[in-house]
Amino acid sequence: MLHLSTTAEQRLVDRLGRVHSNLRISVTDRCNIRCFYCMPEEVVFRPRGEILTFEEIERFVRVAATLGVKKLRLTGGEPLVRKDLPGLVKRLAAIPGIEDLALTTNGLLLAEQAEALKKAGLHRVNVSLDTLSEDTFQQISRRSGLQQVLDGIFAAQQAGFENLRLNAIAIRGLTENEIVPLAKFANRHALQLRFIEFMPLDADGNWKQEDTLTGAVIRQLLEDEFGPLQLADRPDPSQPALDYRFANGSGGIGFINPVSEPFCESCNRLRLTAEGQIRNCLFSITEWDARKVLRGNGSDDSLRQLIRDCVAAKKPAHGIGEEDFEKPARAMYEIGG
Ligand code: 5AD
Ligand code: SF4
Repeated sequence: MLHLSTTAEQRLVDRLGRVHSNLRISVTDRCNIRCFYCMPEEVVFRPRGEILTFEEIERFVRVAATLGVKKLRLTGGEPLVRKDLPGLVKRLAAIPGIEDLALTTNGLLLAEQAEALKKAGLHRVNVSLDTLSEDTFQQISRRSGLQQVLDGIFAAQQAGFENLRLNAIAIRGLTENEIVPLAKFANRHALQLRFIEFMPLDADGNWKQEDTLTGAVIRQLLEDEFGPLQLADRPDPSQPALDYRFANGSGGIGFINPVSEPFCESCNRLRLTAEGQIRNCLFSITEWDARKVLRGNGSDDSLRQLIRDCVAAKKPAHGIGEEDFEKPARAMYEIGG
């Protein structure tokens, strides 16, 4: 009989006992906009030959699944600029052991791809939406396109993606006025909105602690407007977000506070960059070269060992705000969020 369950010894457990079952895969470093918190204004993308092929990503995931990886999220850059993303979704959805397959997108190309993604077997979609004002959208992304993103959100709902999530990066001095309108929008359209604190992963290196609009401040702004928020159930204890419900039951609001309330102690995430480097943290300064194994005739066992080595070296916490914090050389678009 074929055994698909992972035994305790096979799992990816690090020195702090954190079990890694969650893999975020960046499928490209390219993007059709230029958010300042993620990319520089002028960017040189990696040559296509360096980017993992669908076959290589699929093999990596098959091997990772034998080590207990169950949840996948496709990121970028912008994943929907990668040619035939539904083709990759189809391959990954078919891998034994993969229970959850999600996508984080800026939404610009979602209207045209939502149905194909759904058909290919994608389970869940997160759309990045920091503002409902075209002016602010342009200030953040250095491009236009808010309406296209909104069209993408509604198209995804039409295609049958329920509980669609919105990610809003909160930035002090810039997005305070977006908080309440975004919350109303989420409530009206039954969306799960999550505010994420701005992290020091901008390519220009301009991040300052004071730029982080904390979850606590946002929550106060929201409670002033809507009254006390009610905590929602927490289905996954390792999820970084604290989610709240609206009184009328439509949509919800959550907070991801990596800067003011780090959740590293329950982190179960690994990352694969577009060019095939494994990372154990957004903020890691070391990477493990999976592409070298994939392209060098390496065995599945050597790939497994590489993943284990990466997990074994994971640090307890990111250390943002501490004196010896070292900002990673890579910016968000080169890691995948
Ligand atoms: N801090 C916090 N979140 C960020 N993202 C991109 N850059 C940053 C940053 N510096 C978010 C995007 C998207 C996800 C992939 O990561 O808005 O929702
Ligand atoms: Fe593109 Fe997302 Fe980075 Fe914005 S945050 S530039 S949408 S990859």
